[in-house]
Amino acid sequence: MIDDSPEFARLKDLVESSLVGLLPEVDGKSKTLFEAMRYTLRTPGKRIRPVLLLLACELAGGDAREAAPYACAVEFVHNYSLIHDDLPAMDDDDLRRGEPTNHKVYGEAMAILAGDGLLSAAFELIHKDYLLYLDDAAGLKRRIRAGAEIARGCGCRGMIAGQVADIEAENRAVSAEMLDYIHINKTASLIRAAILAGAYLGGAKPDMIENLSVFGENLGLSFQIADDILDVTGAAETLGKTPGKDERAHKATYPSLHGTEASYRRLGELTERAVHAIQRGGGDEGRVDLFISLARELARRTR
Ligand code: IPE
Ligand code: IPE
Ligand code: MG
Ligand code: MG
Ligand code: MG
Repeated sequence: MIDDSPEFARLKDLVESSLVGLLPEVDGKSKTLFEAMRYTLRTPGKRIRPVLLLLACELAGGDAREAAPYACAVEFVHNYSLIHDDLPAMDDDDLRRGEPTNHKVYGEAMAILAGDGLLSAAFELIHKDYLLYLDDAAGLKRRIRAGAEIARGCGCRGMIAGQVADIEAENRAVSAEMLDYIHINKTASLIRAAILAGAYLGGAKPDMIENLSVFGENLGLSFQIADDILDVTGAAETLGKTPGKDERAHKATYPSLHGTEASYRRLGELTERAVHAIQRGGGDEGRVDLFISLARELARRTR
């Protein structure tokens, strides 16, 4: 699987080694907040978004180490979204990455605050990096572009819009178009933003950005279709989440609207569309191949 590739492991290590250390230092009075933030961050996520960000940076010719704060910021944002997604008021889940969900351990109020803390820590991290480049106009410009992509991707015209539509679609019949809107926003938006942020940091030219944007949207949508399928076909031990919960909550999903067979077909088509886009985009050939194998392995993943 993905984790076996040494190149993937190298980038994932870069993320894992700095992730918890980059949390803002808090004084003793905020100890519980810090513990709750660290609790979810340290659980074994796939780290797909930060790895994609670093890989896109290298594809464009940049140094992944310089992009590490942005990669970690994206993982902070993703972890916040998971904590809130699992809350009783949203998907009401008990299990995440094989462990009790944040609110099961720290209570709902602290879980909400831990999510808020991670979201603001992400943008604190990004702005701390801007401050190091105040005298380097070109370097600062690339960083601000990256930060703007992340902000937009996770915000009200991206991930949050998708989460709102996902909640509003519960117990309702939705069109295929609406389902794609939900998935593109709640999931593809942040994945695409991570890729574009990395590309900007690496100094990508407009045509590479254009193709990476198509890659990110197709990969992101296929990622959520695979997540929907795994909720039907997966087992709790490998998934680290409780399967079958989408049907129980009457969620709008690919298998519920299109059936499992058609969902697999669309997953395959979108993955190949993503592959074509990355092939058109240029950049370091070894990195292009890594993107392609990552896209295909994500389509076959079991968690
Ligand atoms: C889960 O994301 C939520 C979705 C957007 C589908 P991941 O499948 O990336 O979760 P982790 O980070 O690996 O646990
Ligand atoms: C989650 O989608 C999307 C975000 C967290 C933004 P799901 O609700 O399908 O994710 P899981 O299945 O709980 O991981
Ligand atoms: Mg959800
Ligand atoms: Mg959920
Ligand atoms: Mg899901």
